Amino acid sequence: MDLTFNILLILHLAAFGLAIATTIAAPLVGSRMALATPDSLQLLGGIGKQLQFNARIAFATLLVTGVAMVFVRYGGFEGQSIWFFLKMGLVVVILVAMLIGAFTKPGTINPRVMGWITRLSLAGIIISAVMAFN
Ligand code: HEM
Repeated sequence: MDLTFNILLILHLAAFGLAIATTIAAPLVGSRMALATPDSLQLLGGIGKQLQFNARIAFATLLVTGVAMVFVRYGGFEGQSIWFFLKMGLVVVILVAMLIGAFTKPGTINPRVMGWITRLSLAGIIISAVMAFN
C-alpha cells in the first residue's frame, strides 16, 4: 500500500513539475507571438501547441494520481481538512480556465488574464496542499 502511494505521489509531483514549467514557458512564447513575423509565428505556434498538450497531460495526471492517493491513503474524501477542499476549489478554477481555453476562440479572454488566473491558482494549490497534508 505504501509503495503504491509513493509511486502515485512521485507521478503527482512529476506532473506538478511539468505543470509549473508549462505555466512559466507558455506566456513567454505567447508574448512574443504578437510581434512575430509569419515564419516565427508558425514556429512559436508549434511550441505553443506542444505546451498546451503538455499542460493537459500534466493536469490529467494530477487529477488521476490525486484522487487515487486520497483513496489509497485516506480511504476517501471524508474527514479532509478545509485546506484540502480549498485545493480542490482551485483545481476546479484551473479546470474551468483550461476548458474555456479549449472551447472558445483564441483571444476571447485576454491571455494575460488567463495566465494570471492559472498562476495564482497554482500558487494557492501549493500552499493549500502543504497545509492540508503536513
Ligand atoms: C493542479 C492540480 C494539482 C496540483 C498542482 C497539486 C499539487 C500537489 C503538491 C505540490 C503536493 C505535495 C504537497 C505535500 O505532500 O505536502 C500534492 C500532494 C497531494 N495531492 Fe495534489 N495537486 C493537484 C491536484 C490534486 C487532486 C485533484 C487531488 C485529489 C483529488 C490531489 C491530492 C493530493 C494528495 C492526496 C497529496 C499527498 C498527500 C500526502 O502526502 O499524504 N491533488 N499535490
